[in-house]
Amino acid sequence: MNGAPPHGSYQHTWQRSINSPEDFWLEAADGIEWNTRPRAALEQRSPTDWSWFPGGRLNTSFNALDRHVHAGRGAQTALIYDSAMTGTQASLTYLELLGRVSKFAGALRANGVGRGDRVIIYLPMIPEAVIAMLACARIGAIHSVVFGGFAANELAARIDDARPSVIVTASGGHEPGRAVEYLPLVQRALALSAGSVHTVIVRNRNTIPGSAADYANEPVSWLDWDVQEESAAPADPVSMASEDPLYILYTSGTTGSPKGIVRDTGGHAVALAWSMRNIYNVEPGDVYWAASDVGWVVGHSYIVYAPLLVGATTVIYEGKPIGTPDAGAFWRVIQQYQVKVLFTAPTAVRAIRRVDPELTELAKYDVSCLASLFLAGERLDPETFHWANDGLHCPVVDHWWQTETGWAICANPLGIEELETRPGSATVPVPGYKIEILNSKGQPVSRVGKDGNIAIRLPLPPGNLLGIWGSKERFSSAYLTAFPGYYATGDSGHFDDDGYLYIMGRTDDVINVAGHRLSTGSLEEVLTLHPAVAECAVLGVHDALKGQRAAGFVTLKAGATIDHDTLATELVALVRDHVGPVAAFRDVTILERLPKTRSGKILRKTIRQIVDGEPYTVPPTIEDPTVLDDLKSALDASANKAPVPRALVEPT
Ligand code: COA
Ligand code: AMP
Repeated sequence: MNGAPPHGSYQHTWQRSINSPEDFWLEAADGIEWNTRPRAALEQRSPTDWSWFPGGRLNTSFNALDRHVHAGRGAQTALIYDSAMTGTQASLTYLELLGRVSKFAGALRANGVGRGDRVIIYLPMIPEAVIAMLACARIGAIHSVVFGGFAANELAARIDDARPSVIVTASGGHEPGRAVEYLPLVQRALALSAGSVHTVIVRNRNTIPGSAADYANEPVSWLDWDVQEESAAPADPVSMASEDPLYILYTSGTTGSPKGIVRDTGGHAVALAWSMRNIYNVEPGDVYWAASDVGWVVGHSYIVYAPLLVGATTVIYEGKPIGTPDAGAFWRVIQQYQVKVLFTAPTAVRAIRRVDPELTELAKYDVSCLASLFLAGERLDPETFHWANDGLHCPVVDHWWQTETGWAICANPLGIEELETRPGSATVPVPGYKIEILNSKGQPVSRVGKDGNIAIRLPLPPGNLLGIWGSKERFSSAYLTAFPGYYATGDSGHFDDDGYLYIMGRTDDVINVAGHRLSTGSLEEVLTLHPAVAECAVLGVHDALKGQRAAGFVTLKAGATIDHDTLATELVALVRDHVGPVAAFRDVTILERLPKTRSGKILRKTIRQIVDGEPYTVPPTIEDPTVLDDLKSALDASANKAPVPRALVEPT
């Protein structure tokens, strides 16, 4: 089945992007100011090797800041900072943001960071996260942002892979009911990693203890952000080749070692600027709020780069949709800053709905400025769609994308044409993307409505990943070899008769917990570290709030005598310590045996169906059907147990 949908101006635009990509993307490249214009839109070196905007030279920080100041919009607000956690509210104009970015870029340079060097940014949702990213872009350094909810081990794995010379961090971040101190985590990650880092720059937050001075005796030098920024000479933007990497962002793959997705400079800038106008219908001066985190791709693209590339105002929000202080938090921010577009994950909407199903908090605010709500990161279930749609009286758009693509693959392109919404569907392919549904042999599925592997025809449009950091081969083996001529998205789904795409789930072991992408394989690797565990399986099971949650099933080694509650607590603590609180791992079921086929394969699908209460058939290849009865009894026994309390599982 081919994804060519039948619509007016959308249809025309999509068709043109596929038939004449050269003209289409060169025209889009006008949305960016180049030092040297590209000689072409696309250079295809082989079927699996291409680059966007060859010969083009530009600087992303210049395009996000200087350009708007030169155009006379220096006094416009570039960034609004709202911390529901500390009560802080602040804003920076384009001129002020440019000043701070230039100075911090100078500070990085003074610490030996240059073109192509890597800098790890481990910061909470404070303006300095945006400043550090743009400062790297200004001097041609490649940033890699690590989400604050990851543990020291995950940070160390990223340090070992990216080999940064500098880490930029802060004394910590705020989570409801607790402060997360970052500096001990950084110190531990440095001790665990191989030693490329020579400097740690620390933003001291007076709400959280810890500063660079506390680490004066460490082998690497720990410096204070304020001192560095104040004493630095401002740095001018350097001219980068379109193909030069802008950033690396690690994401979960099918193995325990995360993949460093590499983004280019030129294709990224062009695609994001194009997306703001054509997908989100945002113009210079509009206020755009992505309620995500800079540690995720949504934050990279739509908190930092895209809004600033088009001269909009971006909101950086430190807080949650509920409990900080209530379920009206999002509506308050929308009214206060006159937000035109909100982008968040379905989980956030479900969280608000759970606490305030009648939307009584919404009634306290005037959110008539809100033109649209965009959701991504996980499937938007029709029930949540209807609830949001009925309550907000503006288009609610489910759009589908991945860390790898960097921007939407399917959406309702409001800036081109507002299409009819179909609950459960991410609407239609975005211009630039030719999507096909393939069977396991790589042939197009024969019937509309039949699920298959969702694949994108090569070459991928601009803004998509350039490769995987450190391994050309891994890019190809992970994405390009399953279906020659296509990028395998790892998602399954189908088109309907009108070319609307429905995403049904992953075809690999990646799961989405509250819009956070996790690999069950890597969680299994952690569980098997426990000395009492013989075998384990981690599955993504249904969760009414978070979409999915990870559930672990373990068997004990012969002779292991550990009490089951103690083991469960230790396993939860182990995951928290190795992966981090973001894994939200709380479910452990201890079994005598795992359900397996006669050839020894764990029956993951059957286990998941039983846990989710779905109908299932006992596979004919099952080794011993009575194991399923044992599984059900074990689940019944654990159903009434309270989750393991956080106090018991915090790493020391
Ligand atoms: N730093 C440190 N810890 C973090 C963190 C961060 N930046 N972000 C989350 N955590 C912790 C949480 O405190 C929680 O810890 P706990 O087990 O001690 O309570 C754990 O990680 C799990 O977090 P989360 O899955 O977010 O659950 P929650 O119960 O704290 O919040 C929601 C639930 C729905 C309110 C929250 O998930 C949310 O706002 N989701 C929106 C989705 C989103 O932004 N997705 C990003 C991709 S677009
Ligand atoms: P991430 O790389 O963290 O953005 O996660 C990407 C994955 O999240 C996709 O491969 C999908 O499995 C899932 N996903 C993202 N957006 C959607 C959506 N709108 N509908 C269904 N699944 C989605």
